[in-house]
Amino acid sequence: MDIRTALKLGIARLRNAHVPSDTLAAELLLLHATSRSRTSLYSHAEDALSEAESQAYFRLLDERAAGVPTQHLTGKQEFWGLQFEVSPEVLIPRPETEHLVEVSLDRLALRDLRSKHSQNMTGEGWFFADLGTGSGCIAVALAKEFPAAQIYALDISSAALRIAERNANRLGFGDRIRFLESDLFSALSGGGPPHAALAQRSPVGPDRSLLFDLIVSNPPYIGRHEAAALAREVRDHEPEIALYGGEEGYELYADLVTQSAAHLKPAGVLVLELGHDSLAAVRPLFDSPDWTAIDVTPDLAGFPRVLSAERTS
Ligand SMILES: C[S@@+](CC[C@H](N)C(=O)[O-])C[C@H]1O[C@@H](n2cnc3c(N)ncnc32)[C@H](O)[C@@H]1O
Repeated sequence: MDIRTALKLGIARLRNAHVPSDTLAAELLLLHATSRSRTSLYSHAEDALSEAESQAYFRLLDERAAGVPTQHLTGKQEFWGLQFEVSPEVLIPRPETEHLVEVSLDRLALRDLRSKHSQNMTGEGWFFADLGTGSGCIAVALAKEFPAAQIYALDISSAALRIAERNANRLGFGDRIRFLESDLFSALSGGGPPHAALAQRSPVGPDRSLLFDLIVSNPPYIGRHEAAALAREVRDHEPEIALYGGEEGYELYADLVTQSAAHLKPAGVLVLELGHDSLAAVRPLFDSPDWTAIDVTPDLAGFPRVLSAERTS
């Protein structure tokens, strides 16, 4: 069978199974099964698939038709122009999460502008935290943008941290990102082992916990009551700990915001991703003297997606 025919059959197979983005999915699976580049796929559309390639491709199509996400079959997803390894142990990075990185860059630049210091383009002397790092996509994107910043990537899941660390090392940022297993900020509070090792070089707060210039988090924010309405690719294949924030979804934000206030330097920035309906529950958490300059950024679909705020001085 030639490549053109295989692609046509693959699209039809996925369309019959009501797979979203069927053309793209068939193309990605064919690329994966044949280890070809996209250009070669289309410029050599008459080439015959080998028996092994054909078997691998149709097996992948069967799995995709049964609901397995394309990214779990290819083992990768692009984020911030970088290729991340993904598996069922981590959330597949979503395009809307790139807004979190954009808002972080904007807020730090604005802060520099206001303070009339020259802009810190490299992140020299800055400490960032990515709470709930998953695949490590946000921590790595920040490391790429700020080549001298030190970053702490925290997650409650040790399986996720192993993948995040592999991603950081493969992409060349492993030396500036520390990976810690932590329930919210617990691993950084109260002078535990990681703290003791880092206290020499890092700013510490009055209770001797680490203080950051920026905390970024895309926490689990889906409500368990919404589970039945989720796409099967998400509900049946992505880790529950990465999806659900509680029965309603927004339950984790209260502790996250309180603990972030205790872990930011004065004028430090907090940037949070929101669920499509989280704003009403999350915005009131910032009605406290701890916070100023609160801002909400919509995503491309118009949902209030990112909330950012500054720790008062
Ligand atoms: C929505 S995923 C975000 C993953 C990644 N940052 C991204 O944007 O693609 C949420 C992550 O938070 C982690 N998590 C859930 N509860 C946590 C907690 N209490 N403390 C730390 N991490 C937690 C999950 O394991 C998961 O990796």
